[in-house]
Amino acid sequence: MSRLKILAGNWKMHNTPTEALEYFGAITRELAAAPLKPAMHRVIFPPAYALGADIQKAARNADVELGAQNVHWELKGAFTGELSATALKAIGLKWALIAHSERRQYFAETDETAAKRLRCALTEGMNVVYCVGERLEEREGGKTEEVLSRQTAAFNKVLKEIGVPKSIVSIAYEPVLAIGTGKTATPEQAEAAHKHIRKVVWDELGMEAAQMLPILYGGSVTPENAKTLMSQPNVDGVLVGGASLKPDGFAKILTAI
Ligand code: PGA
Repeated sequence: MSRLKILAGNWKMHNTPTEALEYFGAITRELAAAPLKPAMHRVIFPPAYALGADIQKAARNADVELGAQNVHWELKGAFTGELSATALKAIGLKWALIAHSERRQYFAETDETAAKRLRCALTEGMNVVYCVGERLEEREGGKTEEVLSRQTAAFNKVLKEIGVPKSIVSIAYEPVLAIGTGKTATPEQAEAAHKHIRKVVWDELGMEAAQMLPILYGGSVTPENAKTLMSQPNVDGVLVGGASLKPDGFAKILTAI
């Protein structure tokens, strides 16, 4: 059973539109000798102001797709600061990142709001990377599986309701202790968490949905550790923050498998 591989970068609140254009020029040169492989997606989530047509075109030259870091659960309305799936699609975007731990931690994202965003994005035919992951105190308190079960249950509930989506849906496991800290989970810890997430999906959505689901690892992924992490049987790609900001380093990650 071969699953899609998804190698993604999350720029968070970094890079202006001009810097984004320079970045894609540079990464196109880095990736010139490494064409995209079959069943593989390379995706970058820039900030919303760096998603214009010129930047999308520059990204396409590098075989990189772009996505938004957030998407609202309504298509339009009085929701200051939010992003509409209709509008994202209208400017040519297919991908959305949902429930990143920074959204959960600083912007009051809950399993409930995240699930609403997921439902809207999938109903609108967008591809999704849906983030889960335990906080440090939860890991230390032995609650990792419990937290992942709860977060994945919110994901399952939406998939159960809407049925098999036509677009790509994936989960990114990002232990909060590893985000931006340089402390990566060990490949064994990542594999154990991914296996658990897949089991929770299997129990609710069945074998096929579970086996087809790409599960990405995120948290201090670097050019040095990407290959080892992705060699784990249940790690189907990566979601990279800091190390996605340097075109040469990210190109190494994108070509690690
Ligand atoms: P990091 O961030 O790679 O800088 O740890 C990962 C993420 O937040 O998606």
